[in-house]
Amino acid sequence: MVHVNIAIDGPAGAGKSTAAKGVAKRLGLKYIDTGAMYRAITWKGILKGIDFEKSREIELLTSNTVINIKKGSDDSNRIYLDGVDVTTEIRDPSVNRKVSLVAKNQQVRDMMVAQQREIASGGGIVMDGRDIGTHVLPGAHFKFFINATLEERAHRRYLELTKQGHEISEEDVQKEISMRDKIDTEREFSPLVAAKDAIFVDTTNLTAREVEEKIVIHVKECIQAGTA
Ligand code: DC
Repeated sequence: MVHVNIAIDGPAGAGKSTAAKGVAKRLGLKYIDTGAMYRAITWKGILKGIDFEKSREIELLTSNTVINIKKGSDDSNRIYLDGVDVTTEIRDPSVNRKVSLVAKNQQVRDMMVAQQREIASGGGIVMDGRDIGTHVLPGAHFKFFINATLEERAHRRYLELTKQGHEISEEDVQKEISMRDKIDTEREFSPLVAAKDAIFVDTTNLTAREVEEKIVIHVKECIQAGTA
């Protein structure tokens, strides 16, 4: 329906993916989950038993890896690692614990960002991540920075993980998210930060549908007013 690029950034558990997926569907845009790409590399590293403290091992692994993102039947992304569908595996708690170490590596980021820009080059994309508005698509027509309190984000992730059958305490989920926030925010290359021209959405007391609605209304109003 519209042909714009929308960047949605924010920390883990803020509700980015759900919002991005819903917005893409309602506006007829393509949805890309960039976190899934860093997760896929991490999953391969776990399978190969690499040492995540050694940048060279992570870089070598990444340059020998092919990641593809395809649209699933439910509008979510299906992630292929060297041709194999790893959509479920990349959500494993073992990946959560290591993915920030992969994502802070500059060479890995350069490779992922090049692929993300290529995907977005045709336009009509909703892309979610940490550095989309600041680095991947600085010229995006719309930029949103989505956040919620640490407690609320941990609670959402805890519900998600237990629903998938993982035995994990809410306290541990909170610790893991807080550690990931710290690494993602303090890293040297493309840290998690809101773009200067991003619109903030605090999702702490909002449902997923309300977040989606806020974004869709804003985008439609700007398009109608000719300010997009
Ligand atoms: O959104 P997520 O939880 O699936 O992201 C997984 C990790 O990848 C997260 O710790 C930060 C990193 N990431 C990133 O550095 N840049 C992105 N554009 C997307 C994710």
